[in-house]
Amino acid sequence: MGRRALITGVTGQDGSYLAELLVSKGYTVYGLVRRLSTPNMTHLAAVKERIHLIDGDLTDQSSINNAIRESQPDEVYNLAAQSFVQTSFKQPTLTCDVSGVGVVRMLEGVRLHAPQARFYQASTSELYGQVQREPQDEATPFHPRSPYGFAKLMGYWAVINYRESYGLHASNGILFNHESPRRGIEFVTRRITHGVAQIALGKSKNLHLGNLAARRDWGYAPEYVEGMWRMLQQREPSDYVLATNTSFTVAQFASLAFKVAGFRNWRKFVSVDQALMRPAEVHTLRGNPKKARKRLGWQATTRVPELVKKMVAADLENLEGPRR
Ligand code: GDD
Repeated sequence: MGRRALITGVTGQDGSYLAELLVSKGYTVYGLVRRLSTPNMTHLAAVKERIHLIDGDLTDQSSINNAIRESQPDEVYNLAAQSFVQTSFKQPTLTCDVSGVGVVRMLEGVRLHAPQARFYQASTSELYGQVQREPQDEATPFHPRSPYGFAKLMGYWAVINYRESYGLHASNGILFNHESPRRGIEFVTRRITHGVAQIALGKSKNLHLGNLAARRDWGYAPEYVEGMWRMLQQREPSDYVLATNTSFTVAQFASLAFKVAGFRNWRKFVSVDQALMRPAEVHTLRGNPKKARKRLGWQATTRVPELVKKMVAADLENLEGPRR
């Protein structure tokens, strides 16, 4: 019989790429979706007819239990979260409820209703925060710098505790930033590529950004969802860093994006807006994915210059319609 998977956060960037991957592998895919008055199914266009959507919310235990009972999953991917770091400073308790306690609710649901299911938790490089070592790997100490970061730290430890206490096959993917044309517009890469496309098409004159010196290890999202799946195919659960082991600053990303659109002097268009600065910043992140390479045979292949090209091209196409 084919395998069954339940994905929370299925309408997002990672959820939609993962749904496509699992459908292509013959899985029966269920997605947990939060009810919105205007549903956002754009990213699911390619697979919507082939997956099953179940209403539910990470803040509501009964809807989680119901989704697990209904889908009877072999694999559960917990990708849902309040995932925007900046917002977590404005809504710290909501962020903790969704991105921290929500993980515990998911684990409880699995423990009670599908204890044989394998569980993937979307952990994050934001756990490293004020980084203690460079590059960061699975043994680097954590120092989160936001409510998002400390909520995710709770989720990370909940996974390990359920593994140790109840023998669940539960793994943390400590993913460094991963982007694509499906990235939400509030995140810096997409803000830049969308802004550049608007300027290139004469729809805007400038782009406001926050900390231009922040440095990130940016990879390409479709490659990262493949890594999530590989984690759950291992005999033993474990925790893995997925990253490129290269890093760029926001300024470098912006400069490349303007260059792709034919502008040499990116500085002319960019102004720094203090409102986009964070109360505590994660200045730099670079991950060492050696364990994932060795055990999962996983490697990131797309680097920032190529990623920028894909994202700028997609934003230009979205805004002007397909090129002939
Ligand atoms: N969003 C945003 N907007 N960030 C900006 C801007 C801006 O205009 N200007 C500079 N930045 C800086 C931020 O201060 C931060 O240092 C960096 O760009 C990246 O910000 P985001 O793209 O918002 O991502 P993030 O690194 O905070 O978090 C993302 O990656 C994590 C993985 O490490 C999110 O996807 C998290 O959910 C994820 O866990």
